[in-house]
Amino acid sequence: MTDLTSLAANAPKAELHLHIEGSFEPELMFEMARRNAVDLPFNSVEEIRAAYDFSNLQEFLDIYYQGMSVLLQEQDFYDLTWAYLTRAAADNVIHAEIFFDPQGHLVRGVTFADAVGGIARALGDAQTQLGISSKLIMCFLRHLGEEEALKTWEQAQPFLSLIDGVGLDSSEVGHPPSKFKAVFAKARKAGLHLVAHAGEEGPPAYVWEALDDLQIERVDHGNRALEDAALVKQLAAKGMCLTVCPLSNLKLCVIDDMQNHPIPAMLAAGLKPCINSDDPSYFGGYVNDNFAALISSLPLSRADIEQLLRNSFDGSFMDETDKQAALAKLDDYLVSAP
Ligand code: ADE
Ligand code: ZN
Repeated sequence: MTDLTSLAANAPKAELHLHIEGSFEPELMFEMARRNAVDLPFNSVEEIRAAYDFSNLQEFLDIYYQGMSVLLQEQDFYDLTWAYLTRAAADNVIHAEIFFDPQGHLVRGVTFADAVGGIARALGDAQTQLGISSKLIMCFLRHLGEEEALKTWEQAQPFLSLIDGVGLDSSEVGHPPSKFKAVFAKARKAGLHLVAHAGEEGPPAYVWEALDDLQIERVDHGNRALEDAALVKQLAAKGMCLTVCPLSNLKLCVIDDMQNHPIPAMLAAGLKPCINSDDPSYFGGYVNDNFAALISSLPLSRADIEQLLRNSFDGSFMDETDKQAALAKLDDYLVSAP
């Protein structure tokens, strides 16, 4: 490991862009398929892994929705979430903001209570047993449109005490943020945090819409924002955090080579990116693997790595006291790290 890779690996950090259904390792998926008597169109863990070869976001999403079909009981959601949290603890994640896709489960007859209940129970155990704090963000599947999102919002009402924010994910192109203005307005009125995937495959106009129409507090991905100088200026002026996912970008062909990843350009432009794993089981690595991939391919400095780590807490939805405590913990680590 290079010095910078171990500096990043051993640092306390937050992960702000993680789809819990995208952390489903094939071994656990097979075990759950067996115990729930669900048929998977694969005969082995090796066959599943071999299928993880994508040329765009949609090819990944098709397999991702298939994978989540084995999640049926509350305990399944608990086990999935607990598996991610123990893995994240090994990467020194001390705060995680986790997405889930309720519509991907409701459509299969899973109850909202079982999905959110299992996830929230594991998040509670992570606080007491692993020292990981967390937030839970419910995402709307943009390809299903706003009517469906509004229905999901209604179904979420009894569980809002367990949910900290709403997001927007799934197939981006053709499903602009402006279509989801009403449901985001409802979530804003209820006091929830607001984020959206934008500028992953979609154009800078979608990032503008997410800012202006949805009033998001954080951009998920945002790579293509760099194509629009006025947008970069606006994101920098707002101090808007971008939850960037390098291995995801490579696997989904958002970039052609890690050497061309926009992280250096984002830092140089005064943006506030942080590093995340997105769907680690599908994209070949957890958060420390994402740092390692960037560091081995790009001329990043120690100051850059420190900035990326700080941004992970700064861009989080931790309350101010917890945020300052986490930043102080990171600073203590950085001053004493070789
Ligand atoms: N759902 C899970 N991962 C996603 C991604 N990277 N983009 C959009 N939707 C997703
Ligand atoms: Zn994502």
